[in-house]
Order: sequence, then C-alpha cells, then structure tokens
Amino acid sequence: MGKMQNFENLKKEAAEKAVEFVKPGMVLGLGTGSTAKYATLRIGELIRDGKLENILAIPTSDRTAELAAEVNIPLTDLVKNPKIDITIDGADEIEPSLNVIKGGGGAHLREKLVAQSSKKMIVVADESKLSDKLGEKWAVPVEVLKIAVETESIFLKSIGAEIKMRKNENDENFITDLGNFIIDADFGVIENPYQLAGKMNSRAGIVEQGLFLDLVGIVIIAGKDGVRILEKK
Ligand code: A5P
Repeated sequence: MGKMQNFENLKKEAAEKAVEFVKPGMVLGLGTGSTAKYATLRIGELIRDGKLENILAIPTSDRTAELAAEVNIPLTDLVKNPKIDITIDGADEIEPSLNVIKGGGGAHLREKLVAQSSKKMIVVADESKLSDKLGEKWAVPVEVLKIAVETESIFLKSIGAEIKMRKNENDENFITDLGNFIIDADFGVIENPYQLAGKMNSRAGIVEQGLFLDLVGIVIIAGKDGVRILEKK
C-alpha cells in the first residue's frame, strides 16, 4: 500500500508540474492513462476555480473524454481545432533523447494523432519509465486492422518480434476505440527505432505503432529525489 501510494504521488506530481505550462486561451491535448489522468483532473480544478479561462481540449481516448466531461473541461476535436498548443500525456518507456513507447493503454493511435498536431508535447511519468534504450522494458504496441491480424502477426515475427495479442479483462481480444486489435510486439532492445518504425509504417495492415520518435519536447519525471524536467535538445 505504502509503495503504491508513493507511485501515485509521483505520477500526480509530474502531471501537476506539466499543467504549469498551460496558459489561458490554449487548445490542449489530454492524454490517456493513470499519470495523464492527474493532469486532466488538475486542469478541471483550475477551470472550476476560475484560474484558467478559455481552454478547449481534445481527448486522446473515450476514457479521457469521459473524465474531462466529468470535471467540466470544454471539449473540441481535431476537425474544429486541428492545431493544439500543448498536449500532456504519459508514456510506457522513455529513453534519453526523449523518444518513447506508448500504447500500454491501447490509445496510441489517437495519442499520436494528437501529438503530431501539437506545438509542444509534454510527457509525464514516474522514474520507473526511464531506460537507456527503448525495448528494454516494453513491447511495442501495434494496432492492426482486424482483417490483417494474421498477416501482420507473420510480418512482425519475420522482423524479429515475439508477439502477444492484447486481451481485455475477459480474456477476449482487446478492441481499440477505433475498432482495431493490438498486437504487443517484443523486439528486445531496439537499436534503431527509426528503421523499425519505417518497416512497420510501410504495412497496410498496421494502422499505427507505439514508437513516438521526435515528437516529445519535454519530459517531466517525478522520482524520490523530486521532479526533473528534461528538454529535447
Ligand atoms: C495509453 O495508450 C498509453 O500510451 C499511456 O500513455 C501509457 O500507457 C502510460 O500510462 P500510465 O501513465 O498509466 O503508465
């Protein structure tokens, strides 16, 4: 319990630090997951208290949309507001040049769409997410069309992955907000994420993969020694 509690505190600390970058009048991207949740809650609090005005926000998942609506954050979408000022989102693994793996929550397609539309993408995390190279700790979530699940399984294995179908709590195949499946592809340590992303991006059956390369501007890490802000060089 004590440890869990600490972890939650770290996530909250990192997320609330990120919200300090938010200014009135901004269009925001709201991330998905147990860390980004704290940023959404904090933004709702500031709006409620009259400390943050004229905010419009774009959620990266149905879950986040529900949470944002609960705390009365005005929502918009990428059709009405295709340009986002700041997005605050979590990540599953983060390396020193601020490339990250995302999609542990299955939302990486919308998360990448929102990140690519953002002037500044801030990732918030506790220090357990840091590693020297991507793939040390996490598999790459790969969202595939349902009809392509076999072809893309064969493809991912052919480029060196050990694969696992993402399941939901009832042990059925997990279905994303956009109606696709996820294959978790474990490549081990990824020496060249750009090359790997290129290979996966060339496949018609792969809708999106969880390598976020050159998209993150700032990472806010909370650890037992406090909060650190890492900026993309
Ligand atoms: C959601 O699809 C993911 O990309 C999350 O951002 C990521 O899994 C981080 O989630 P936590 O903050 O819950 O670890």
